[in-house]
Formats: sequence, structure tokens, C-alpha cells
Amino acid sequence: MSRVPEASVFLVVDEAKRKARERGVPLIDLSIGSTDLLPPKAPLEALREALEDPATYGYCLKSCTLPFLEEAGRWYEGRYGVRLDPRREALALIGSQEGLAHLLLALTEPHDLLLLPAVAYPSYFGAARVASLETFYIPLRSDGLADLAQVPEEVWKRARVLLLNYPNNPTGAVADWAYFEEALGLARRHGLWLVHDNPYVDQVYDGEAPSPLALPGARERVVELFSLSKSYNLAGFRLGFALGSEEAIARLERVKGVIDFNQYAGILRMGVAALKTPREALRGYARVYRERALGMAEALKGALDLLPPKATMYLWGRLPKGVDDLEFALSLVEEGVALAPGRGFGPGGRGFVRIALVRPLAELLEAARVLRAALTR
Ligand SMILES: Cc1ncc(COP(=O)(O)O)c(C=O)c1O
Repeated sequence: MSRVPEASVFLVVDEAKRKARERGVPLIDLSIGSTDLLPPKAPLEALREALEDPATYGYCLKSCTLPFLEEAGRWYEGRYGVRLDPRREALALIGSQEGLAHLLLALTEPHDLLLLPAVAYPSYFGAARVASLETFYIPLRSDGLADLAQVPEEVWKRARVLLLNYPNNPTGAVADWAYFEEALGLARRHGLWLVHDNPYVDQVYDGEAPSPLALPGARERVVELFSLSKSYNLAGFRLGFALGSEEAIARLERVKGVIDFNQYAGILRMGVAALKTPREALRGYARVYRERALGMAEALKGALDLLPPKATMYLWGRLPKGVDDLEFALSLVEEGVALAPGRGFGPGGRGFVRIALVRPLAELLEAARVLRAALTR
């Protein structure tokens, strides 16, 4: 417990937002990845119907999750042409964040070594501490991907888990198949697990996001975590699933068996309906983020040094030299715009900010104007 972080910088920003609101400052809140887009209708309808069905009211053990896992299997096969066994190679999660924290416990012993990018989803750092892991932070390349070539040989030898996330929060970076082939090759050579957190699979602006689990030889080494939160705008309902190595799934099931009884059966039925959403509707969501990202990138040209937007609901930008990301984020709240300070995303995040594209473009452009004016000053 003594190693678990007490409070994140996001809570500091949250407190600043509360105070600003109290003083009547109207806020454009781009500090968290909670979308303004609405879910498709069918999953909400399925949940509404489930609420009327007493058969959904009890504890939900593995067999109760199977229709959802079977649908997840069909979804994965439809995307990547790989058929998985829903009983042994899939598990329902209460969101991918829950899944990841428990998966780290399931795959490791205390003091094992976890490799993760120096800029990552904040929960990874806390989850590593909860599992009493040592960590090695992989520096980023200029394209935002973790630079695997910078991990020393002796670190690979000691490592137990390599944790990646592409499309990435917060950078928006996308890995191609070759990148995952390299990562998988390294994981196989050194006998470690490749864990891929993949909640933004549907948020690439062009083409299809690669899935390392679909690579030859991946099924003994890889676990991927998927989520209903981002693809279907159902974050508050807390549903996701893990796919991959039978051994890893069995271990995760053992850990979770001690801790939870799965998500509510009605929400699992909601998930079945969500996974059937036509591809075109999902591409429509991605197009919204693409339009917002390109509009903002244009509006912020020359003010923030942004990675070219390729995916996700985020922009990741380097502040001008000497500007402190936390101080800047706090001062911007006073001016009516909330952003996430980069240091909240790990040791490589200092001097950066993340902008969540979770408001309509007109509001984003107003935020860009405020941001640009503040940086000019
Ligand atoms: C990389 C990453 N993983 C996991 C999550 C949490 O997903 P879920 O809602 O499925 O727990 C997020 C949410 O922002 C995320 O960005």
C-alpha cells in the first residue's frame, strides 16, 4: 500500500476546475477522455429490455458471460480472421482498466519486471505498484511509439511483461503490423508476456488497427484487452473483454474469481448488441474525431508542437521550452479551458499536454484560441 500513489495530478486539475466553476468561470473541459458522442441505440434498448427480465438480476458466473464471449469471438474473427475458443481464450471484464490491473497481478510475482512506455495511460503506473512490480520505462521515438531498440538486452532477460497500447492514449500514435511483429518476436525470444491494451481499436482515422493476437505464434504469448467504453461510447457501463493466451486467461479468471462476480447480466446483453454495431456507424464516430483533430491541429499550428493526428480522441502536444505543464494546465483553467498536464502520463510526459477532443469542433476552436493566446503571452 505504501507504494501505491496517493493522488494524481488529475485530481489537482479537477480541484482547480471545481474552484473555477464555483467562481462562475464557464469551462471547456478537455481534460478527460469522456466523450460527448452518444452510443448506438440497439445496446441501450437491449439493456432496457434486460432490466424487465428477472433472469438477469442474480450473480453472473462464467456460464452467464458466455453469450457475450461468443459474440466477442465472432467480432474478433470478423475483424482479424482468427477463431478463438470463447470458453478458454476469452474473459469478460468490468472495463479494460479493471482487466489490466488484475492481469498484471495474474501474470507476475512481486518484484517481477514490467516494461511499459515512458508515456502511458496513468492507471498502468498505479497497477504496476499494486502488483508490487519493478518497472522499466521505454523511451518514445519521435513518432510516439515505444522505442523497443532502447531496451537493453539484460532488461529483456529480466522482464516478465511487455505492456503496449496502440492506438495510444495519450499520444494518438498507431503501430503497424511490423511493429507488433517485432514486439512479439522479442516477447517470444525472451519468454515474456505481451499485453496489449486496445480500447481504441475503432478510433483509427484511416484503415484498420492491427491486433498482435492475430499474428502467427501469438496465442501463447499475447493477451489483448478490449473495451466497450470508447468504441460504443458506453464508458460508464463498465464492460470489456480479454482475448488471448489460454494460460493467461485462466490465471486472470483465478484472480478475478476472488474479487468479482462479473458485470451485471443486463449489461452483458447490452454488450452483445453493441458488438453487432455495423462497421459504418463506428467509422462515423472515428470521422468525427478525425475532423476535430485536424481542425484543432490547424488551429494550434505554430503554438503547440503536435504529433500528426492519426487516431483516438486525443491530441498530444509539446509546450514551448520552459513552460511547466502542470502550472500551464492550472493557469488555463482560470481562463476557462481544462487540459491534462503531460506529467500525469508518466515520466516522459513533462512539458506536454493532452487535449481530449470531447466537445464539438466550435468549442474546441474556442479552446484553441484561448490556448494560443496564453502561449503567446
Ligand atoms: C489506454 C486505456 N486503457 C484503458 C482505459 C479504460 O478503459 P475502460 O473504460 O474499459 O476501463 C482507458 C480510458 O481512457 C485508456 O485510455
